Amino acid sequence: MRLDKFLTETGNGTRSQIKVYIKKGLVTVNGSVATDGSVHIDEMKDKISFQNKTVLYKKNRYYMLHKPKGVVCATKDNVSQTVLQLFAPDLQKGLFPVGRLDKDTEGLLFLTTDGDFSHRLMSPKKHVEKTYYFEAEGSLNTEEIQRLESGIEIAGDEPLTLPAKLSEIQQDKQLVKGCLTITEGRFHQVKRMLQAVDCHVVYLKRLSIGQVSLDEKLVPGEYRELTETELHTLYNKKNVVEEYK
Ligand code: URA
Repeated sequence: MRLDKFLTETGNGTRSQIKVYIKKGLVTVNGSVATDGSVHIDEMKDKISFQNKTVLYKKNRYYMLHKPKGVVCATKDNVSQTVLQLFAPDLQKGLFPVGRLDKDTEGLLFLTTDGDFSHRLMSPKKHVEKTYYFEAEGSLNTEEIQRLESGIEIAGDEPLTLPAKLSEIQQDKQLVKGCLTITEGRFHQVKRMLQAVDCHVVYLKRLSIGQVSLDEKLVPGEYRELTETELHTLYNKKNVVEEYK
């Protein structure tokens, strides 16, 4: 792999920034100052340093995005802005969203280059918990809460939803707010579950997937790499090159 590509893919800057860093002598390959970004390195064997710190090769890339409203969870779209377009151009290659949020839903979305990671989180068989904060027009009584939690019919021919959890319910006149945790990912599931008890969702935000919560420091549209701890929690896997050495 080219040295400049290695450095952009490991999140050290854009290709033009890397050019400048190399010119300034900030990059070394096996202890020697690099002078040319087009040189080919072996990312599994060569020791690359940037500003005196070893750059660990990551086999795949994993990000959390605070998805804003109005963008679609797709890699390409002819009409709307996509979640991919929120990423720096150098980072977009090979990246795709893990599952989908509706265009008008905001909150936690993972994007990765790792198909296996996506499958493990999104496969209906894995039952990974996803928690959503909702605001809906309508109200919920005890019986409706119990139906939502034990399993509810959201379309005539489908099985009932799996058990879910409702928490932090607040009701005020004709608006109900709260958190719903589900372990499936059916189409418009949260909206349809609430619609089944005559509550019309007007705001929806995903707060967490598995044990990982949306980083509150990220404003809508911002992203960051998942930490090794988060990745390990979700995937039970390390992503740095030591694993392969
Ligand atoms: N459920 C929905 O209804 N919409 C989403 O975007 C996610 C879950």
